[in-house]
Amino acid sequence: MPKFITVTNQKGGVGKTALAVHIAAYAAGTGKKTLLVDMDMQRNSTFITTGKSVYDGFLVTDLWDEEAPLSFADTRFGSLQILPGDKSIGEVAKQSDAEAMKAIGRLKETDFDVVVFDTPPAAGIQQHAPLHLGGVLVAPLEPDLLAVQGLTSLIDLWRRVRHGIRVPLELVLVINKRVLNSANQQSVVDMIANSPFGSHLLPQQLTHRQLVSNAMKQGVPVWVADKKDPGASAWALVCKSILDKQDIDVVPEEVGNGEN
Ligand SMILES: Nc1ncnc2c1ncn2[C@@H]1O[C@H](COP(=O)(O)OP(=O)(O)O)[C@@H](O)[C@H]1O
Ligand SMILES: [Mg+2]
Repeated sequence: MPKFITVTNQKGGVGKTALAVHIAAYAAGTGKKTLLVDMDMQRNSTFITTGKSVYDGFLVTDLWDEEAPLSFADTRFGSLQILPGDKSIGEVAKQSDAEAMKAIGRLKETDFDVVVFDTPPAAGIQQHAPLHLGGVLVAPLEPDLLAVQGLTSLIDLWRRVRHGIRVPLELVLVINKRVLNSANQQSVVDMIANSPFGSHLLPQQLTHRQLVSNAMKQGVPVWVADKKDPGASAWALVCKSILDKQDIDVVPEEVGNGEN
C-alpha cells in the first residue's frame, strides 16, 4: 500500500499547493513511484505540474465511478504522475461521505510508493477523505494570529480522524512564508512551539522568497529554478523530513492495547 501524505489547512494562500507539489516532486526525484492527487476545484497543482488548465482524461472525480479503470497523467516533473483535479469535484463529493471515502480508498490498490494529496482551503470531505487513509497530515502555517486560530480546528480534525481510523496518522506542522526580522511572526512561532503541539512543529522553516512563486509559475520545483538560492535547500530539507516521517510506523494509542 502507498504511503499517504495529505497537505491541508482550511486557510488559503498558506502554501498547501506549493508544498504538496514539492513533496511529490522530491519523492519522485528520489526514485519513489509517486502520485499527486488534486482535490481542489481550483486545480492549481494540476496546472503547475502539467501546464494544462483543461484536462480530458481520467480526473479525480472519476474515482467515484467504480467501473472506470484507474489511470493517471504524466507531468513535467520527471516521473511524477498526477490525478488531475476537476472543477466539479464539489458536486461529486456532496453525494455522501461514505462514497467519497470509498472513491479515495481506491488509491490503496495502486502500486505507488507515495501518494500526496493537495486539498482545497475549506473544511469538507475533500479534506477529510484522504486523511482516513492514514499516513501524514502536513499543515503549512503562515505565522500570523489567524494561523493560531486555524490551528485549533486543524488539531480537532486530526484528533477526530485519528481516533476513528485503525491506521497511524501523523501530524506535521510547517512554518511557511517566514519573514525573519518580524517580531510579530516570532511571537506566533513561539506560541505554537510552546503549545501542546510544539512537538509536531518541524524544526526547519520556510521563509518568504520570491523564488517560490517564480518557480511555481515556471512549473518547476525551487531546486530546479535556482539550486543556489538558500530557499532551494530549505524546501528540499523540509520535503525530506516529511517523507522520512512516514517511514516511522507508529501504532496509534487507540489500537495499541493488545488486540490484533
Ligand atoms: N515560502 C514562500 N515564499 C513566497 N511565496 C510563496 C511561498 N509559499 C507559497 N508561496 C506563494 O504564495 C501563493 C499561495 O501559495 P499556495 O501554495 O497556492 O497556497 P494554498 O494552496 O494554501 O492556497 C502562491 O503564489 C505561491 O507560489
Ligand atoms: Mg492550493
